[in-house]
Amino acid sequence: MSLVLIGMPGCGKSTIGRQISKALGWQFVDSDVEIERQLGHSIREHFERFGEERFRDVEQEVLKGLLATANNTVLATGGGSVLRAENRMALQSSGMDIVYLRTQVEDLVRRLKHDVNRPLLQGVDPGVRLKQLFSVRDPLYRESAGHIVDTGRLTVASVVGLVLGQCGLSDVVRQTR
Ligand code: S3P
Repeated sequence: MSLVLIGMPGCGKSTIGRQISKALGWQFVDSDVEIERQLGHSIREHFERFGEERFRDVEQEVLKGLLATANNTVLATGGGSVLRAENRMALQSSGMDIVYLRTQVEDLVRRLKHDVNRPLLQGVDPGVRLKQLFSVRDPLYRESAGHIVDTGRLTVASVVGLVLGQCGLSDVVRQTR
């Protein structure tokens, strides 16, 4: 069994994913961290040196590998993972619980307005860029996910509870306590 979190940058995939993995006693894997480990440098540097498409090639390979091997794992994916149809199909056919953490653009802007790590948000108005990205990606996240959890301004603990409940995993938490 594994659970995959998808959603916009800043929606809380890593923070929430880590807490879910603790609650379940599962492993936590962040695909961006795995990509950077394989590249030997940061995603931002990779974008600057080789461009977005080369990054997407690496992202696709890493996602494929992680989906094939994940077991008792909570996997946080990069926000752009759903852009390629191959990735959306890999997510849909993985048999895992795919959860879209859906966060309003205003909340994403509040969290990411000073971000310096995400290449797509550098040198542009983060509000304008996040709005554009959201309008393209929201339908793709919906298409890829089996569950949608609206995070609103909820606490991390509340979102964790909602995700576990929607995936029918609340009992697993009780058993591991
Ligand atoms: C990206 C999101 C980032 C990272 C890369 C590209 C995107 O991950 O994969 O900077 O296209 O939205 P997070 O969603 O974890 O920020």
